[in-house]
Amino acid sequence: MKGVILAGGLGSRLRPLTKITNKHLLPIYDRPMIYYPIQTLVKAGIRDIMIVTGGTSAGDFLRLLGNGAEFGLKDIYYTYQEGEGGIADALKLCEHFAEGHRIVVILGDNIVEDDIHPYVRAFEAQDSGARILLKAVDDPERFGVPELDGDRIVRIEEKPQHPKSGYAVTGIYMYDRRVFDFCRKLVPSGRGELEITDVNNHYVKEGDLHYDVLNGWWTDAGTFDSLFRAGQLVAGAARERPDQLP
Ligand code: DAU
Repeated sequence: MKGVILAGGLGSRLRPLTKITNKHLLPIYDRPMIYYPIQTLVKAGIRDIMIVTGGTSAGDFLRLLGNGAEFGLKDIYYTYQEGEGGIADALKLCEHFAEGHRIVVILGDNIVEDDIHPYVRAFEAQDSGARILLKAVDDPERFGVPELDGDRIVRIEEKPQHPKSGYAVTGIYMYDRRVFDFCRKLVPSGRGELEITDVNNHYVKEGDLHYDVLNGWWTDAGTFDSLFRAGQLVAGAARERPDQLP
């Protein structure tokens, strides 16, 4: 299993914080945002990691992370996304790296309390398809939202005005090799991006999208409020378990 961290885009919702640096280098409590998704993958046993970066400060990732020795890694792969074509546009850049292997993808601004290892194991036990992680939230309209029929996802809507459930699709996705075929079929959405939700809906159509619901807290950090909340959650966890990262 290989890991992909998507840390491209321009972070426009966090301007002026992102005017001269990449969003994923901003601090969340006591470390840069990008540390958390790396740690999440490493804790799940994933050692082959590619980071997709973008914007004007891409070189700073290399200065900060190098070959990932701080995380016990031998090396880290990097690639560069031009512009802000969407999450699936960034993912497309990883086809070469994936080499037909299954991948775990995590958005660079997603911070999760759970150890995702059990979910990755459940994905490994699947014959094929994709697996996503859901979390009940108070503001589902900010996210991709699944419509459920019993315990089956029948559709995912991106930032719906009238959410069909109280769950957010978190930015942790597990895919088989078909993900890159689905990416090639995408057309830009209303906001001009290749949407990961459209990728997931391809798996729904194939009847091969599975999911788990996270136990612990989860947050993104792409707005002022969520960035602030992320800092508070991480600080709280650090106080409870000073020896461990969330
Ligand atoms: O956080 C989970 C949510 O992330 C999901 O529920 C949504 O379905 C999904 O579309 C996404 O929503 P956002 O609109 O919040 O995504 P955002 O544009 O903030 O991008 C999230 C991360 O994805 C960002 O930190 C870096 C990466 N990204 C994003 C874009 C637009 C890229 O690498 N390249 C891009 O072009």
